[in-house]
Amino acid sequence: MIRKAVIPAAGLGTRFLPATKSVPKELLPIVDIPTIQYIVQEVVDAGIDTLVLITGKGKSKIVDHFDVYPELEDKLEREGKHDLVEALRKASNMIHIVSVRQGIPRGLGHAVLCAKEVIGNEPFMVLLGDDLVDAKVPCTRQMIDVYSQFHKSVVALMEVIPDDVSKFGICAGKMRSDRIMEIEQMVEKPKLQDAPSRLAIVGRYLLTPEIFEILEKTDPGKGGEIQLTDAMARLMKQQGFIGYKFEGERYDAGDKFGFLQANIAYAMKRPDIAPKLMEYMKSLVNSCKK
Ligand code: G1P
Repeated sequence: MIRKAVIPAAGLGTRFLPATKSVPKELLPIVDIPTIQYIVQEVVDAGIDTLVLITGKGKSKIVDHFDVYPELEDKLEREGKHDLVEALRKASNMIHIVSVRQGIPRGLGHAVLCAKEVIGNEPFMVLLGDDLVDAKVPCTRQMIDVYSQFHKSVVALMEVIPDDVSKFGICAGKMRSDRIMEIEQMVEKPKLQDAPSRLAIVGRYLLTPEIFEILEKTDPGKGGEIQLTDAMARLMKQQGFIGYKFEGERYDAGDKFGFLQANIAYAMKRPDIAPKLMEYMKSLVNSCKK
């Protein structure tokens, strides 16, 4: 039912300079897999077949990552490195990718609007590359299930600490059950004292196509950018909007500490690394105690 997903990836990655001076932040690895590949895997695991990548200047390496690389595969094959060949093929056979250039980055809302022609008139997912969600059922799949119940746009929500409220879009409304909220208010990065709740939008959205007409008429908002949250607030008034407190652990891979947390958490799931990492962390803790 939901066939297409959009990943905006035109951002400049200034939070990770100098690492991102010539490497797109989406390609920084969590262990040995680029951050964006985890997000693409989530999309694939949810049964989506077409991915729209919104790219910009200096970002074409992201598309290259998902391309075939026969010379390298042949070389590795000859050297008997079959596991590496497998890893390379995995990235190149994941999904059909359409890349769209954003030109001048004018905000998240503008990035999503760039996907209009490829998406057409059907509901679609948007996933932000900074937000990794580790979950038994992929977060995107959870959201598709919510959409099939309510037939309204859905946004993923998570409670944040007061200090973090002004870093997110914030939603408030009526809880219908433990995880489902009928949203009544959406505001982009409010000050803590103005925030209607502490329920933050994380980077997973399932949107109906009417969002495009609204985005076309949305003026720049917070930070002088065309904000997706502003357009969603209008869509909510027309069609209603569901907030969904997803199941799973979210990591902010766009933040230095979050990126390190994600690296440790994902490394701890790898049998080839976990025991050594555990020993190392124990020795670090012990040396701090001294
Ligand atoms: C964007 C959205 C914000 C959302 C956040 C989630 O902000 O504008 O509403 O809460 O992503 O990560 P950004 O982090 O791009 O400033």
